[in-house]
Amino acid sequence: MGHYDHRVHAGNAGDVWKHFLLLEAADCLLDPDGSLVYAESHVGRPEYALRAPGDWEGGIGKIWPHLPSLRNFCYFDILADLNHQGLIPGLGLYPGSARLVMELAERKRAKLLAELWDIDANVIDTWRQYQQIALHLGDGFSGVMSLLDRQPPGLLLIDPPCIDPSEVISAENLFVAAKEKGWTVLCWYMMDGEALASDSITEFSIEFSKIELDCGRARGCTIALACPNGSLRRHLDGRIKTFIKTMQNFAFGSSK
Ligand SMILES: C[S@@+](CC[C@H](N)C(=O)[O-])C[C@H]1O[C@@H](n2cnc3c(N)ncnc32)[C@H](O)[C@@H]1O
Repeated sequence: MGHYDHRVHAGNAGDVWKHFLLLEAADCLLDPDGSLVYAESHVGRPEYALRAPGDWEGGIGKIWPHLPSLRNFCYFDILADLNHQGLIPGLGLYPGSARLVMELAERKRAKLLAELWDIDANVIDTWRQYQQIALHLGDGFSGVMSLLDRQPPGLLLIDPPCIDPSEVISAENLFVAAKEKGWTVLCWYMMDGEALASDSITEFSIEFSKIELDCGRARGCTIALACPNGSLRRHLDGRIKTFIKTMQNFAFGSSK
């Protein structure tokens, strides 16, 4: 399998959709008096410096000017705060998925038990200052699979780089196993890529052009959701509608 480095892709249109949904799901599940197990099979780095050229220009770069109006979404609120709002696009910092969830947990004063995997030792090394999390160097598919027997159900993000067809099968096996154990699972894949074949899953797809984003040849992406909690699904439905409408209003406003 080839080596994958997320640094040139961080903040792209797919990251925007994935992180928007991830943070909305985490917001529902994080309770100030409770604790949540948060697992990631493919965690990447805690943060990324955004420099041009980069895929972020068609993703978070397009949204950046609107951040102040998007603060009622926890994902954008955290992004704005971490960047002291108003930085010129290109000089920003983009937090990765786990860093975003950790930041949200801290804001909500909720206890997060993070169990994170990455196969790249250099990536794992970038987490050394974060002592309160369990970091694992190795294959995240088998790693999280073994975690399912050790921890109570929590929130799981499966986010493989999808450079090898075998990853789709591994992602699907992990998705189904975690779903059966009562976890809330989000799994990312490209819209034109191979989809999970599982029945009875909810999929949230976005065509990037619909929210004025652009990711080169990729038309859009999908987040598959398994969730034992019907109100979470309804929450995500509602937030997606509001987000899409807000983005379309920005586009309409700028074309006047
Ligand atoms: C798409 S990036 C992760 C991005 C991150 N989840 C985010 O949203 O900010 C994929 C990561 O998976 C790692 N990776 C690739 N194959 C892996 C495997 N079998 N197990 C665990 N990590 C793997 C890569 O090193 C890379 O850091």
